[in-house]
Amino acid sequence: MNYRHAFHAGNFADCMKHALLLWLLDALLRKPAGVLVLDTHAGVGAYDLSSSEALRTGEHHGGIARLIDHPPLVLQPYVSLVTRLGLYPGSPTLIRAQLRPQDRLACCELHPEDAATLRARFSRDQLVSVHERDAWEALGALLPPAQLKRALVLIDPPYEAADEFTRVSQGLIRGLSRCRFGVFAAWYPVKHRAPVREFHRVLRESGTRDIVTAELWLRAPLDASRLNGCGLVVINPPFGFEDAARGLLAALLSRLGHGEHGEGFAVERLVDE
Ligand SMILES: C[S@@+](CC[C@H](N)C(=O)[O-])C[C@H]1O[C@@H](n2cnc3c(N)ncnc32)[C@H](O)[C@@H]1O
Repeated sequence: MNYRHAFHAGNFADCMKHALLLWLLDALLRKPAGVLVLDTHAGVGAYDLSSSEALRTGEHHGGIARLIDHPPLVLQPYVSLVTRLGLYPGSPTLIRAQLRPQDRLACCELHPEDAATLRARFSRDQLVSVHERDAWEALGALLPPAQLKRALVLIDPPYEAADEFTRVSQGLIRGLSRCRFGVFAAWYPVKHRAPVREFHRVLRESGTRDIVTAELWLRAPLDASRLNGCGLVVINPPFGFEDAARGLLAALLSRLGHGEHGEGFAVERLVDE
């Protein structure tokens, strides 16, 4: 457990993940019935972009800092939420800001210090529960939601372990077996193509239906040592996700791209409904 999100908060990958996540959440919240959001790898919930960790990498300069002033229209809901929340918000804080009284947020974080920080952040919040527990085990234990009929699951692991893609595909399949109706979104890095192709193949051949992938690349994914792009695989996406994702990714690229060879985005249907 060496990964600390404070070094990466606000980078281009965070912006991509959070902009798509908020669209998914907003789509689910259009209906009155309550929703459980399960954030399996939650982090600490908010990040100081002037901290020594953030300054050491400066990654947010290539991400949120390029969006804050005059964001493209489709990114305005996301960027105005980031601005309104003060300290740069992680996924639990962004999700919590959108919840209605009938919704719930369950956060899992395995790092003891980070789990304690997150628990303190939401200590008086009736809508949020924080679990210091393993995400992969929680996908079986916390699903299906006890009283709610709808669910959004965000899976956002650090990809420190060599077999993280395998764990994500197994986690998705496990989660779906417990909660068939859930919308599942899993973030993944695009460094080079081979592991991503294999990840997609496993999902395609898993028997799971209704899978869409959205990817953003800042350069051709050829160098396995660099985060050249990232993706979000979405299972059971709400109606309109593919068009919305194209609009969001185009807007993100227009601000975050550097004109490098191979930059681009794609939204593809991996498996039909
Ligand atoms: C990429 S960060 C999460 C960022 C957060 N989702 C956001 O968008 O603000 C991944 C987090 O997962 C935690 N983590 C790593 N392995 C885990 C596991 N097996 N179960 C739960 N949390 C884990 C790490 O400590 C880290 O805080």
